[in-house]
Amino acid sequence: MFQAFQRWPGRITLALAAASAVYSASANAGEQGDPTKALRSEVTISAGAGGPTIDPDIYGQFVEHLGRGVYEGIWVGPDSAIPNVRGIRSDVVAALRRVKVPVIRWPGGCFADGYHWRDGIGPADKRPRGINAAWSKSPETNAFGTHEFMDFLGQIGAKPFISVNLGSGSVREADDWLRYMTAPQDSAPGAERAANGRAQPWEVPFIGVGNESWGCGGNMSADTYAAAFRHYSAFLRTYSGERAKLIAVGADTDDYAWTDRVMAQAMKWRSQPTPLSLTTDRPLMWGLSLHFYTFAGNDWHAKGRNVDFDENAWAAALARADLTDELIRRHSEIMDRYDPEKRVALAVDEWGGWFQSEKDAPSQLYLESTLRDALIAAKSLNIFNRHADRVKMANLAQMVNVIQSLVLTRGAAMVVTPTYHVFDMYKVHQGAQALPVTVATPDYIQGKVRLPGIDVSASRDAAGKLHVTIANLDPARANRLNIRLDGGPWRRASARVLTADRIDTRITFEGPDPFVPQPLPARLTAGGVELDLPSKSVTVLEVE
Ligand code: AHR
Repeated sequence: MFQAFQRWPGRITLALAAASAVYSASANAGEQGDPTKALRSEVTISAGAGGPTIDPDIYGQFVEHLGRGVYEGIWVGPDSAIPNVRGIRSDVVAALRRVKVPVIRWPGGCFADGYHWRDGIGPADKRPRGINAAWSKSPETNAFGTHEFMDFLGQIGAKPFISVNLGSGSVREADDWLRYMTAPQDSAPGAERAANGRAQPWEVPFIGVGNESWGCGGNMSADTYAAAFRHYSAFLRTYSGERAKLIAVGADTDDYAWTDRVMAQAMKWRSQPTPLSLTTDRPLMWGLSLHFYTFAGNDWHAKGRNVDFDENAWAAALARADLTDELIRRHSEIMDRYDPEKRVALAVDEWGGWFQSEKDAPSQLYLESTLRDALIAAKSLNIFNRHADRVKMANLAQMVNVIQSLVLTRGAAMVVTPTYHVFDMYKVHQGAQALPVTVATPDYIQGKVRLPGIDVSASRDAAGKLHVTIANLDPARANRLNIRLDGGPWRRASARVLTADRIDTRITFEGPDPFVPQPLPARLTAGGVELDLPSKSVTVLEVE
């Protein structure tokens, strides 16, 4: 079926486009089974339209004490033979700097609600050897704590998003941590920090108030969590820099009732102000989170393999990733009822592909990285861009060596993943203005899965350059794409594409990187640009 989709923040309109489409539905349907014939699609971009800014923090990351995410992945210690600066491995830092990681969420995840920050400060040899209760009761040396995390951020140029312990901690413990990090040196907490090597207070722009409090963070009901959030929010102050932005625990996937209850009970300081009482309009929370993971299907207990998968598993994973759009739309609709001005952000602070780890995986939740991950990332980031009016932050789970990662390490070796290349290609959207996009494309059909064959987002940066990112989901068919642009005149167009031989091509430590994006010819036409998208590919187009 040939369909036109208008995709724009909070709204999808779907219309049969037989009359307006320049290609006939039947012609494309006839080509569905013939990989030698390119499909045809048309994208219209209102280059002059004003749209919301794509917050750079949509390209954020998440790191947890889990598997080799922190230990080996980031921290090797100052005495390691692996090149490092103050214990932080230099290859990983250099790679992350290149993709402009804007913000990192730490220390968890489920780990956060069992983490006691005092264990991770002070002389290395005095730190207690603990147990990571959230993840396999593995040893936790506490060698990587607050100072090391902040040093790591400084080396890559990213901001901290600190998740405080609401599950097994206390308001006092969280307040003390914030004082320790942000108070001036002439206060007791500031002096203690200085004695541990950091005189200047750090800035802490984002604070996560617990993690998954409906599950590993405390098995709370939405009402219980809302009450806890209200309580914590009164004490989570920073003592230097700007007021910290509080991120409340939001829903697991499609738990819309959670969003409704937490917005109703925790967004406002006073929901029913009396005529003479003090009140304020400022929401208690800056953001509400959403966690959503992609498997091959919709079963948490059968996520599918991350290697050697077939086209059904490819399609099932992309179909699940596609649900990101519906989830954001429906959670946003609920938020709109309480917050029509969109002052509270939706922070998708855990997302990514989560498949079954191989039996011989070197560490917990370690996944090989394949072309499918690149498509999941491209599709998800396009969706976040299109919802930039509400989605102000997103954090890939989890940056290094854990589930969908940007980089993988093995001892002294490091490789960047296909997901890394997608973040590199998409970094041009950071801080740019989102543009409305209309897509007319044949569906990609595999078994019961039916999805628009291409997925697109677009933005215009401060210099006036236009960037369009496109995922071609079809594993067998190329797609001739005609992009119609208003505005202009457009003088130059260039594109790069990421693809691979097979849907399950994976990155290895042995061979060369098969995913390095390559130039793709981009032809300026009277009304825009024409591109030939290879099958199973991710493309970034720049037009000036
Ligand atoms: O990212 C892995 C885990 O997934 C996190 O610790 C938790 O928050 C989520 O359930």
